[in-house]
Amino acid sequence: MSESDAPLLRAEGLVKTHHGEGAPAHAVRGVDLRVRRGEFVAVTGPSGAGKSTLLHLLGGLQRPDEGSIRLDGERADGWSEARWAVERRRRIGIVFQFFNLVSDLSVADNVELPALLAGVPPKKARVARRELLAELGLEGKERSMPGELSGGEQQRVALARALVNHPPLLLADEPAGSLDSRGTREVMRLLSRFHQRGQTILLVTHDARLASAADRVISFFDGRIADDATLDAGPPPRRAGASGVLELRD
Ligand SMILES: Nc1ncnc2c1ncn2[C@@H]1O[C@H](COP(=O)(O)OP(=O)(O)OP(=O)(O)O)[C@@H](O)[C@H]1O
Ligand SMILES: [Mg+2]
Repeated sequence: MSESDAPLLRAEGLVKTHHGEGAPAHAVRGVDLRVRRGEFVAVTGPSGAGKSTLLHLLGGLQRPDEGSIRLDGERADGWSEARWAVERRRRIGIVFQFFNLVSDLSVADNVELPALLAGVPPKKARVARRELLAELGLEGKERSMPGELSGGEQQRVALARALVNHPPLLLADEPAGSLDSRGTREVMRLLSRFHQRGQTILLVTHDARLASAADRVISFFDGRIADDATLDAGPPPRRAGASGVLELRD
């Protein structure tokens, strides 16, 4: 298989156990996953199922105990921290479950930072930041500090920051986690728009409405993939309910 035929993301046999204060948590118990270029995949499932752990493994933020990860056909699970950090600037944009904005940097600086770290000239970073913030409805908030923004606005800044380097892959963990239904609809619309332009997205959410914007929904349960359903394989989608929304066992 040539590199260009390879799935953008391929994981095989992923296992991760957390060893904290209490009993070990078997968060990911053997996951095989392929994501093709341009796919919009939602991973959904109950709290504690291991969704964030899976996303952290795929973004190199945590190391699997077992299994392999390939990005564009290239073996990634052996990469050093430094290499992962570089690739997270180039190839993988991440929206975290709890925003992780830099609280003492302005909105503009938060969004420009990954571009500057990736070596983009300041002028170009500024242009990219302006475009994204305008697209996300945040013009006029450039000079605000994250603490001065609503939860929904912070979510959108986090999305802008993840997308500023045009990463081929966007990993988003509950990007509407703290939003009301209007905010959720907005995030859904934004993700759909980026998807229509070819952005590959892996979205973790326990929100069935948000998941329904994806063209493939993976149900994650107890560290494993319990179901994997493609929604755009021609009408009508087999596993979808009357509303077109996948019936999730959450
Ligand atoms: N750093 C950690 N140390 C110890 N246990 C952890 C750690 N991170 C996660 N866990 C445990 O691993 C399991 C999976 O957690 P994870 O955060 O991946 O779930 P989740 O599906 O993202 O849940 P939620 O929907 O609430 O965000 C849980 O039992 C959790 O308590
Ligand atoms: Mg989580």
